[in-house]
Amino acid sequence: MPASSIRRSFMRAVAAQNAGIDVVRLDIGDLEFDLPEPFARGTIDALRAGKTHYSSMSGVPELRQAIAERLSTRYGIACSAEQVIVNQGATQGLNAAFTLCADQGDQVFLPEIYWPNYLQQTVLSRLNPIFYALDDGFCPSLPQLRKQLVQAVETGHVAAILLNSPGNPTGALFARPVVEGIYDAAYTAGCWVISDEAYCDYVYQGEHFPPLLLDWQKPESERRVLSVFSASKSYAATGLRLGWTLAPSAEIAHRLQLLNEPLTGSMTTPLQFGLAAAIAQDDPALRCADLARRCSLAAELLPSTGLEFNRPAGGLFFLLDISTTGLEADEFATRLLDEEAVAVVTGTGFALQPGAEPGTFAPTERSTRLIRVSFAVAEDRLREGISRLGSFVRKLQDAQQLRGEQLLTAEAGHPCAAH
Ligand SMILES: Cc1ncc(COP(=O)(O)O)c(C=O)c1O
Repeated sequence: MPASSIRRSFMRAVAAQNAGIDVVRLDIGDLEFDLPEPFARGTIDALRAGKTHYSSMSGVPELRQAIAERLSTRYGIACSAEQVIVNQGATQGLNAAFTLCADQGDQVFLPEIYWPNYLQQTVLSRLNPIFYALDDGFCPSLPQLRKQLVQAVETGHVAAILLNSPGNPTGALFARPVVEGIYDAAYTAGCWVISDEAYCDYVYQGEHFPPLLLDWQKPESERRVLSVFSASKSYAATGLRLGWTLAPSAEIAHRLQLLNEPLTGSMTTPLQFGLAAAIAQDDPALRCADLARRCSLAAELLPSTGLEFNRPAGGLFFLLDISTTGLEADEFATRLLDEEAVAVVTGTGFALQPGAEPGTFAPTERSTRLIRVSFAVAEDRLREGISRLGSFVRKLQDAQQLRGEQLLTAEAGHPCAAH
């Protein structure tokens, strides 16, 4: 099982903090918001009312109903509570989705830069990941993806294509024609689309076009999209471990429920009542507006570091290109923490691919030039972190320049230099 670089950075940053160092935490995708009040109140009320027993494996009916209503209003679809399954976070929802779609040895398409747990889940289910290329803006190139799909279909069974828009760590939002192209290609190939909607409520620029909108135009029996959502992100509840999946039909939802049973049994009952209250009474748009401000602030400050980046259209992260510093991402992230007390995540953890030997994994070359910076932190910490990052980059560039000058001087003094 390849270890997640996010957890590795997390542990190193915590160790530094425990040693008394004032670390600016730009590594984590944890929202700096209080739990929405209706979530807390709904949970406490449920506890007091004795709703502390096992609940249905697919989720308490009140929550499934609240989710179905929200999805129906938001996307203009007529989904029922029976098509919704509650999960232990999007993490478990995604795992169930992979398990539902694919048998051991099947191929699944993942973006070449991706949230590390996808790879771990393919390892767990013994699936073969195929990585589709992302362009300079971190969006799929349709002709290339279609070509890869045709090749893969010739060599084995392709079970699913995973989309994550807006993406972690890329912040990229896939444009409607791209989503349409991928959906059509998947439909023609007869494979599933797993849509990770963890960041669907945090879009700052452009239109969020989820593939479920295409799928729900088809008759139920032909639908191919499993959409997985996260209460961690939408309701600032990372520690409460709830998410949900919208299945194309009640029958598929039932199969997803069966996949919950061996792993989680039922979800925590009182928290599900809290989430139902939050969905009915709280609006993630408030958090989105706040995050949009932090994203703009980061986009204003980051050019001072001299590092290149694409401004994210959604999600919580910037991917910065560190190639001008002369360091590779792993060393950059380690030294940045040691020398300036800023925690970021190395790009290499988001782009591991299976190596030639079974059980080995190696990062792509592109990812060695990238680091991930979260803007989901308080504005003063964001300012401080970016300022320290800028100092670090300047220090590296000065050292590089000095080395260059020393080399020139040495060459000039070398006896061969005259020739
Ligand atoms: C892209 C993506 N999908 C899914 C998840 C998992 O979310 P959850 O906390 O709901 O399990 C995360 C968490 O960071 C994520 O970044």
